[in-house]
Amino acid sequence: MSSAQEQRPITLSHAWLDRLGIGILVVHGQTVIRATTAAMSLLDRKDAPTIGRDVLQLFASADEDKLRPWLKAIYTNSDHAGSLVVASDVGSPRHFRLTAGPNDSGSESTRIITIEEHIPGGAAANAAELRRTFKELLDGNPLPTFVLNREHVVLHWNRACEVVLGVTALEMVGTRDHWKPFYDTPTPALGDLIIDGTHATEAQDLYGETLRPSPIISDGLEASCFFPGLGEKGRWLLMTAAPIRNAHGVVMGSIETLVDITEIKDAEASLRLAQQGLEDLVKKRTAELESAKGALERDIARREQAERALLDRFVEMTNLNIKLSEANEQIQSAQNQLLQNEKLASIGQLAAGVAHEINNPIGYVFSNFSTLEHYVSDLLSLIETYHAAEPHIADEAQLQTVTALRERLDLDFLKEDTRSLMSESREGIERVRKIVQDLKDFSHVDSDASWQWADLHKGIDSTLNIVSNEIKYHADVVKEYGQIPKVQCLPSQLNQVFMNLLVNAAHAMEGRASRGAITVSSGYDDNDVWIAISDTGCGMSEETCSKIFDPFYTTKPIGKGTGLGLSLSYGIVQKHHGTIEVTSVPGEGTRFCVKLPIRQAEEVTANAQHA
Ligand SMILES: Nc1ncnc2c1ncn2[C@@H]1O[C@H](COP(=O)(O)OP(=O)(O)O)[C@@H](O)[C@H]1O
Ligand SMILES: [Mg+2]
Repeated sequence: MSSAQEQRPITLSHAWLDRLGIGILVVHGQTVIRATTAAMSLLDRKDAPTIGRDVLQLFASADEDKLRPWLKAIYTNSDHAGSLVVASDVGSPRHFRLTAGPNDSGSESTRIITIEEHIPGGAAANAAELRRTFKELLDGNPLPTFVLNREHVVLHWNRACEVVLGVTALEMVGTRDHWKPFYDTPTPALGDLIIDGTHATEAQDLYGETLRPSPIISDGLEASCFFPGLGEKGRWLLMTAAPIRNAHGVVMGSIETLVDITEIKDAEASLRLAQQGLEDLVKKRTAELESAKGALERDIARREQAERALLDRFVEMTNLNIKLSEANEQIQSAQNQLLQNEKLASIGQLAAGVAHEINNPIGYVFSNFSTLEHYVSDLLSLIETYHAAEPHIADEAQLQTVTALRERLDLDFLKEDTRSLMSESREGIERVRKIVQDLKDFSHVDSDASWQWADLHKGIDSTLNIVSNEIKYHADVVKEYGQIPKVQCLPSQLNQVFMNLLVNAAHAMEGRASRGAITVSSGYDDNDVWIAISDTGCGMSEETCSKIFDPFYTTKPIGKGTGLGLSLSYGIVQKHHGTIEVTSVPGEGTRFCVKLPIRQAEEVTANAQHA
């Protein structure tokens, strides 16, 4: 700063002139020996050689007549040569005001010519006025603003710049130091980028994402940056730069405006902070809700599980209930069966009692009847003899009485009929005797539960007699008995087995179109006796066959079947250490075969005796 304030003569070095950004030509005679960059760009001669050229060649040849005397004039009396407006015929037609500068070089043949763009129709005074107005406009602008020419030299540095950036216009104007308030090392400002025509995307290395084409000014650039060196705590600046073009659209420089957005940024930051806080709060609340939801879901899951368990328990209970009522039914059924057995037992006892009672009278009726038959026969032969002696009766009256009585009584018929009556009665008595015997055999009340040597054929016959009522309407009984020895057994219980098998066979025949046959056969081998009962009834499927020995398994309607017959029979046969086997063909018939050992092991019968 101090150097700018020193008041000592300045040597106009070429570099210094260049930095001023003023269009200056230094001529020796008519030859250009120096040209500032500003001059060359004004004349559009950046690429064409200027040094060593004749000044006259730089401007329109039509203006040569004006230029020549003016050049002469500036060498004779430069102070009074005034300024001259000439045109250029390079590119589009433009006008320049040439002014001869003071000659400080000390050489008489050297002159400095200043070139300014001449705005046609405007007076030079107007231009000056315009410049002043422009400067005031800039200084009046409260936003820091600076203007660069196209050589990147600061042309204007407004008052707001001085205040905000702390560097005076005097220090800055004419230099390329406008980076200094912002950076430690030379760094292009937005205005520099505009002059160099750098595209926004290329310059993003410097300004990052904030650099973008200005949304308001065409060809302008905009960026925001934090400058830690500015103010007490650094400042955020929003920088906007726009090109300054001449009448021909050529970029002559740039203007850059700075807006302090520190407060906005701070507000933004605190807003962000507040928002962050809010977001954190929302996150926290969300997390709380999440965990509450999790707990709720777990609770629901627990409840559902409990409900399922409850349901399972309910199903289990229901199943148990069903099983219970099934068991109940079975017990009921067993009870019925027991009742039935009891009934059967008492009927058996009754039958046995009746049989016993009838047995005696029938015994003596039977033996008396034989004697009676004898007597009748004797009497009849006596009557025959008498009849033969009739002609020898002398008394006529007596003879007549005898003959009349014989004829009235029809002795021949009487004799005949008596014989048949006697034989019929004998048959009847024999039948009664047989029935009584069967009843006794079947019930075996007197020998119940005791092991005996019994003729199984007898047991089967008496059982057949008892169940004949069930069988006779449906089937004929065919006996194919073999020779079998007596078997050590519990006869009444085996009779029960035969009865069950015979009744089942009779039932299998019911509803069949033709009358069937029940065949009872028997035989034996070394140790065993077998009794087979086969029928031509309905038969059974394999599935039914596999279940028939289960207690309560029946295919018969309620009331008719209990499903106990075969299971009881199975038990009885097992008690005899025998087997019971079945073969059946559906629709053709069934064969049950009971195999029994002839002799039981000694301890079996002994235990039974003690029991
Ligand atoms: N001879 C047979 N022919 C066809 N089916 C039979 C025969 N014997 C037994 N069954 C079958 O075996 C089942 C069980 O017989 P059982 O234990 O005596 O009980 P219930 O006669 O009371 O049904 C019968 O319901 C029947 O389906
Ligand atoms: Mg049965």
